[in-house]
Amino acid sequence: MSRKVIAATLALSLATLLLGLTVVIGAEPAGHPDVGKAGDCVACHEMVTPEVTREWFAGPHGLNNVKCFVCHGSTGTNFTTVPDTKRCVSCHADQVVSMSKPMMKGKTCFSCHPNHLLKPHGPGM
Ligand code: HEC
Ligand code: HEC
Ligand code: HEC
Ligand code: HEC
Repeated sequence: MSRKVIAATLALSLATLLLGLTVVIGAEPAGHPDVGKAGDCVACHEMVTPEVTREWFAGPHGLNNVKCFVCHGSTGTNFTTVPDTKRCVSCHADQVVSMSKPMMKGKTCFSCHPNHLLKPHGPGM
């Protein structure tokens, strides 16, 4: 093979490889990276997202041991990044009911309560 052909072949395989990667990444279903089902959320997330874990520990859920899976589900099964109110109702039924008031239109719990720290923002939220 001439140098040109080799170069072209290399370029083509590189392009194919990159395209393949893009397709693989693009095809990844929305969800958690594969870590098996029995992963300890807090132990790993203390390393991968230390800020999130710190805020959870400092907030009322961390203090009361309301764990990550309560909102996010378990990796590989019922995982969700953005929990809806179905995941709150067993403990905060009153607040979930109040979300159907007209003034709450377009809001979620997290419009007022920061995701992990949960302490509400000041007035004028
Ligand atoms: C072995 C390590 C490991 C374990 C165990 C683990 N995670 Fe993760 N998790 C990760 C990594 C890595 C990411 C990607 C982080 C990033 O994108 O910065 C991630 C991302 C996430 C995200 C964000 C997803 C998104 O769409 O951005 C959430 C929420 C999450 N994990 C919750 C959990 C919960 C709940 C558990 C336990 C049921 C758990 N994780 C267990 C490593 C882990
Ligand atoms: C009260 C429910 C709740 C609990 C409990 C909870 N999270 Fe979240 N988490 C959320 C919400 C809401 C978001 C924002 C999702 C969005 O809008 O993208 C989020 C986002 C995340 C993200 C994405 C990065 C970010 O900063 O937004 C990670 C990672 C994450 N959570 C990990 C965890 C881990 C680890 C725990 C336990 C230590 C945990 N969460 C506990 C509600 C919760
Ligand atoms: C297993 C029970 C349980 C579930 C499920 C649960 N929480 Fe909680 N939550 C608690 C406990 C316990 C506290 C601390 C005591 C209290 O303030 O009621 C708390 C406190 C809070 C607070 C405290 C606000 C403050 O200023 O004191 C907010 C906000 C909150 N939870 C939001 C949520 C949201 C949003 C969900 C669903 C995505 C959820 N929780 C699901 C048990 C739960
Ligand atoms: C429009 C803003 C807003 C929305 C939306 C909202 N909250 Fe609150 N929440 C507050 C404020 C403000 C407080 C009062 C905090 C205080 O006095 O410490 C509060 C207090 C709480 C408390 C503490 C107990 C109490 O009654 O004072 C819990 C638990 C709570 N909210 C859960 C939720 C849940 C779960 C959702 C969604 C179903 C939600 N909140 C939606 C603003 C909001």
